[in-house]
Amino acid sequence: MPTQTRIEVAKDPADLAHRAARWIADLAGRSQDRFAVSLSGGSTPRRLYQLLAEPPFREAMPWNRIHWFWGDERFVPPDHPDSNYRMVREALLSRAPVPAANIHPVETDGDPAMAARAYEQTLKTYYGAETLDPARPLFDVELLGLGPDGHTASLFPGTKVLDERRRWVAEIVGAKPEARITLTYPVLESSRHTAFLVAGGDKREPLARVLAHDRELPAARVQPLGELVWLVDEEAYPDR
Ligand code: 6PG
Repeated sequence: MPTQTRIEVAKDPADLAHRAARWIADLAGRSQDRFAVSLSGGSTPRRLYQLLAEPPFREAMPWNRIHWFWGDERFVPPDHPDSNYRMVREALLSRAPVPAANIHPVETDGDPAMAARAYEQTLKTYYGAETLDPARPLFDVELLGLGPDGHTASLFPGTKVLDERRRWVAEIVGAKPEARITLTYPVLESSRHTAFLVAGGDKREPLARVLAHDRELPAARVQPLGELVWLVDEEAYPDR
């Protein structure tokens, strides 16, 4: 079970983005060594990523020590409109002093299985070991989203990847029109501080089910090693 779980309700998506930016900048600022961040894709985190590149967060972030990873990726070229890498590049990486060596995108050339194997190697090389040690989480901060069907990263309901506990990265073919590359649960759980960012009325039902531990929803099965924060807006989590 995560050491601690809490729910933080933001007024609206803008407030949610500010709260998340403060949370990340504070954690990164308090770290001493390199700092690994796993980014979620989709639309919710875009404003957060933009904020991190702007004052006051731009000045607060130790850019040279932060490494950027992706929790999942669509198997499309990096300049494709659906690319999570492209979204982060436009919102953050092209607007902040991020060393190129600190950016670790999923390479989407070759075929999905090759891309998954290559990204698994990227993670293992950064981590410096072939197996994850619960005492030494891979990520310092991990951001996750929640889909209307309760998916997170590219872990979709009813897919066999939900049972994958050996591989770090898997290719998902057939669940969506485009193939996906996703981190598996063991890697998503190897995180000191994990936050789900959830906004909008269309997430109200899946969020309620996840918070009620409905394991049919993949997001409900994420049990991070460290802190788990639900950063939600009032649309998604109406005051009870
Ligand atoms: C992706 C994401 C995915 C996303 C959820 C929520 O590649 O799409 O990683 O897991 O976080 O689908 O997406 P929204 O924030 O756009 O609602």
